[in-house]
Amino acid sequence: MPGKQAPAKRGASHADGVVKFLPAPLCGVYPAKEGPVIQEPCSCNAAKPARAACRPGNDCAPAILQKSNGLENGLNTIMRKPIIAGNWKMNKTVSEAVDFVEAIKRDLADIKGVDVVVCPPFTALQAVGNVIAGTAIGLGAQNMHWEKSGAFTGAVSAGMLRELYCHYVIIGHSERRSLFGETDSDVNRKVKTALASNLLPIVCVGETLKQRKAGKTESVLKTQIEKGLKNIEKKELKSLITAYEPIWAIGTGVTATPDQAQQGHQFIRGLLKGMSDEKTSQSIRIQYGGSVKPENAGELFQQPDIDGGLIGGASLDADSFVRIVKSVLCAG
Ligand code: PGA
Repeated sequence: MPGKQAPAKRGASHADGVVKFLPAPLCGVYPAKEGPVIQEPCSCNAAKPARAACRPGNDCAPAILQKSNGLENGLNTIMRKPIIAGNWKMNKTVSEAVDFVEAIKRDLADIKGVDVVVCPPFTALQAVGNVIAGTAIGLGAQNMHWEKSGAFTGAVSAGMLRELYCHYVIIGHSERRSLFGETDSDVNRKVKTALASNLLPIVCVGETLKQRKAGKTESVLKTQIEKGLKNIEKKELKSLITAYEPIWAIGTGVTATPDQAQQGHQFIRGLLKGMSDEKTSQSIRIQYGGSVKPENAGELFQQPDIDGGLIGGASLDADSFVRIVKSVLCAG
């Protein structure tokens, strides 16, 4: 596994007349740390269990970790901060992307209690990063190569993404798997490189309708999780994010019911426990993805093992993306 990059300070260095953008240090809230539970009002004015757990010295917004799993550790409870990521896929030119983030910035720049991430196409990463710099909105890429550099036409490395202030990267999306032939072992190599490069991977898994109908959902998820996350140490497992995205629900308008989604998430958490331990598995955030809309988001996010969403179509419209983000605060 490649060596970890030294943490760098966010900002530009002007050595030799060249402006070099250095990646921001990762927020220290991942993985969730134990800490005293405090009460903090959410935007819907309901008091929610929350706690400030930001490690000193990081430039992130104070973290409020919201979802409790009931795993008690003395006086402390492990809680997971929900995360909503917009996967724009191959949509939006640079100017459209900038207009979009200017629009959501008005509502989300200072948002607390949820991590908000936008994942534009590679071409718009830098422009979007400039608009959201200094806000609570994070930047993610939709894919990356596991090698540092070399003859890989069309590919982009983790180092290139870090230089653009990217903190997240989607790995193993079903479209990458089905349209571009990505395998679980590719996913595994990418996840390892991302973690070693201080990028938080959002690792996608999910079954097709045919597999679900054949009763193979659990075996498909098991293979994807166990192969995709093979040989990843416990302490690193804690910091990654997984996304359960039933393929039959992606872009189809057919959402998994909250029960179906919860079952998938619970199963994945059980697999993660088998690969680590109870405490580690309870720290890992699992997003739901597949036709999430403002109308169904709240009910999905209320499920105990659902820690936010990976949003495709509905993340392209500023109003619907903002509504989805806000719905997680009321679902804690
Ligand atoms: P969708 O896409 O929200 O449009 O279904 C989700 C995804 O592909 O991540």
